[in-house]
Amino acid sequence: MLTIYRILPPFPYSLFQQHSTRMSQRKILVTSALPYANGPLHMGHLVEYIQTDIWVRFQKLFGNQCTYVCADDAHGTAISLHAEKQGITPEESVALINKERIRDFGDFLVEFDNYHSTHSEENRKLSEAIYLKLKENGHIASRNITQAFDPEKQMFLADRYIKGECPKCGADDQYGDNCEQCGATYSPTDLKNPKSAISGAVPVEKESEHFFFKLSDFDGFLKEWTRSGSISDEIANKLAEWLDAGLQDWDISRDAPYFGFEIPGEPGKFFYVWLDAPIGYMASFENLCQRRDDLNFDDYWKKDSDCEVHHFIGKDIVNFHCLFWPAMLEGTGYRTPTSVNVHGYLTVNGEKMSKSRGTFITARTYLEHLDPEYLRYYYAAKLSSRIDDLDLNTEDLVQRVNSDLVGKVVNIASRNAGFIKKRFGGKLSANNMIPELTADFQETGSRIAELYEGREFGKAMREIMALADKANAWIDEVKPWVVAKEEGKDQELHDICSAGINLFRLLMIYLKPVLPSMATKAEAFLNVEPLAWADSQTLLLDHEVNKFKPLMTRVESDKVDAMIEASKEVLAKMSEQKPAETPASNEWLEKEPVAEQINFDDFAKVDLRIARIANAEHVEGAGKLLRLTLDIGEAEPRNVFAGIKSAYSPEALVGKFTVMVANLAPRKMKFGVSEGMVLAAGPGGKELWILEPHEGAQPGMRVM
Ligand code: MSP
Ligand code: ZN
Repeated sequence: MLTIYRILPPFPYSLFQQHSTRMSQRKILVTSALPYANGPLHMGHLVEYIQTDIWVRFQKLFGNQCTYVCADDAHGTAISLHAEKQGITPEESVALINKERIRDFGDFLVEFDNYHSTHSEENRKLSEAIYLKLKENGHIASRNITQAFDPEKQMFLADRYIKGECPKCGADDQYGDNCEQCGATYSPTDLKNPKSAISGAVPVEKESEHFFFKLSDFDGFLKEWTRSGSISDEIANKLAEWLDAGLQDWDISRDAPYFGFEIPGEPGKFFYVWLDAPIGYMASFENLCQRRDDLNFDDYWKKDSDCEVHHFIGKDIVNFHCLFWPAMLEGTGYRTPTSVNVHGYLTVNGEKMSKSRGTFITARTYLEHLDPEYLRYYYAAKLSSRIDDLDLNTEDLVQRVNSDLVGKVVNIASRNAGFIKKRFGGKLSANNMIPELTADFQETGSRIAELYEGREFGKAMREIMALADKANAWIDEVKPWVVAKEEGKDQELHDICSAGINLFRLLMIYLKPVLPSMATKAEAFLNVEPLAWADSQTLLLDHEVNKFKPLMTRVESDKVDAMIEASKEVLAKMSEQKPAETPASNEWLEKEPVAEQINFDDFAKVDLRIARIANAEHVEGAGKLLRLTLDIGEAEPRNVFAGIKSAYSPEALVGKFTVMVANLAPRKMKFGVSEGMVLAAGPGGKELWILEPHEGAQPGMRVM
C-alpha cells in the first residue's frame, strides 16, 4: 500500500522567522512557586517544576531571552518546628534541605538560572521596602485581635497547632480547623479539651496587635486585573465569587517567636511568611542581576516594563498569587505579572498520594529507580493549560514511554543509523528524497511551537507522535532492510536512511524542551552543535554523523514496582500535611461538590444485600417512581419505591438482580412505605443503570 503525503504549498514563514524578523526577542522572567523548606520534593511538586522547566527551555530554544528563578520558602512556624524536631536551628535545617533539593532538581533536569532563599538579605530589603511603601500609601491598618496562646511555649498558635475533641462527633486528637473523622469544619475555640499540638499545654486566649493589608483598597483594580488576560477565565470566574462577596483585610503579621523578618518599626512583630514569599521571586531575580550584566532588575519590575513576568503555581495557592500579590505590586508602583499559570493537583494511580500505598514518592526515591526523562515525557503528555488534576498512572507511564519514545522516536534513528555507518562511512546523502514529508514536518513545527507557548504540552506531544508515526509508516513502506539486499540500489538506500535520520533530527528538536538529555545524546550522534528551534528549517545533507548509541532504554515494570515498595518504607515518618501557613483554601476550585466524608464506621453500618426484583410496576400518579418488590431471602419481600422509571420499563426489571441498602429506615411516602433503596449509577434521566450483580448472586447475599 502506498501512502499519499499531503503536498504543501511553499512554506513562507515559520513562527520563528515571524518572531525574529517582525518582533524583537522577548525578555521573559519565569518563576515556579517557592517550595517550603520543610521536607523532600515529591512527585506532586515535580508537576510544577517540570511544567515550568519545559516552558522555559522552549522559550530559550526559540531564541527568547528567558530567565527562570526560584528559591526556598524558608520562613514560618512549620519550618522552625521541623528544625526543632531535629535539634538544629531553622537556618541549619533550611541549608540541609536546600542541598538535597538542588541535587533533586538538577537530576530531574530542572534548570534554574537562579535558586535563592526567602531568608536572604535581598528579600529582607525588598520586603521592608514594599511594606513601608504600602504603609506610606495608606494600605496598612492595625488592630488588636484575640488568639489562642501556648503558655508553656510562650507563642501564639495557628489553628493547625491546636488539637482537641471534635465539637460535632467527639473524636479525639483533631486539629483546630477541621475534623478528620467526621469532616466538620469549625474554629479552634469550638474544640473540646483543646491542647497545644506543640507542647500539650492548655491554650489560653490572648490579645495582641496585628497588621493588616487593606485588600479592599484594590477591589476595583483586582476586578479589572483578573479579567485582563493574565489569568484564565476558569480562574477568574472562581475569583469573581470572592471579589463579589467583598474582600477582607489580610493579616500580614505574626508575633515573636517567629522565623521570618521583623517588621520595621514594630519590635516583636514579624511578617507572615506569605507576605515575603512572593517577594522572594523578586529577591531571587535581584540576586541574579548582581551577577549578570545583561539583566537589570528595574527593566523587569518597573511599572510599564516591556519585559514579561510569568508565574507558575498550583491551584491551592491561587488567592495569594491572583489577589494579594498583584494588589501588593499595584500598591507599591511595580508592574503586575504578565500571567499566572495554574496547574492542577497530582494523584497517583487514581488517588491522593498515600504513604501506606507507596504512592507518596519522593523525587529521590524515583531517581533511585527510574530515568527522570520518563517522568518528564509522561507529565508533558498529560499537561494542559487547564487546572484539571492529573494522574500519574504507573502502568500508563510504562506503556507510553515504551511505545512513544522507545518504540516510535528512537526506533527511527536506530533503523537507519547502522546502514549509514556500515555502508556509507557515516556520511549522509546530499539529496533529500522526501521533500513533501520533510516540509510537512517543518510546517508542523509552528503548530507545535504555538502549543508549547500556550502550555498545551499534551497536544504538542500528540502532534510530535503523529509525525513519528508518519516517519515510521514511510520507512515501513520503503523498507531499507530490503533495499539493502538488492544489487545496484546503493543510492536509494543512502537516500532513504539519510531521510530517516533527518526526520529523527526534526523530532528531536521538537522534543528537546521535554527531553534535554536525550537531545544532547542525539546531538552527539548527529555530530552537530546544540540544536535550536530554528534548526528545524534546515536539513543535514552531505554531513558526517557519529556512531549511534542507544538513546533511551525501555522502562521496566519491575523497577516501577520496586520504587513503589521503596516508597512505602522510606516515608513512614514524614508528614504529608501542608504547613500551617497555607490554609486549605482550594476547596473553592473543586469542580464537583464533594460529598460529606463518612468514616469507616459509618460505612460499615450500611447493610448492602443482593436483591432479586420479583416484581416491578407503575405507580399511579408518580412521575418517576416504580414500585419494586424485592426478594432478599427473607420471609417477607420488601416494598421499595425507586426513581428509575426514566431509565427502565417495569418489564425490563423483573427477574434482574440488583444491590439494595437493606437497613435503611422505612420511609413513609405519598404512595406507601418504602423499605430500602436500590443502587443505580449514572447522571440520571435515561442514563441510569441499576447495579447488576451476576455470576453466583443469590438473594440476600451480603455485598462486601
Ligand atoms: N511555599 C508555598 C509557595 C510560595 S510561592 C511564593 C508552597 N509551597 S509547597 O511546597 O507547598 O508547594 C510548592 C508548589 O508545588 C505549589 O505550587 C503547589 O501547588 C505545588 N504542589 C505541591 N503538591 C502538589 C501536588 N500533589 N500536585 C501538584 N502540585 C503540587 O505552596
Ligand atoms: Zn468530628
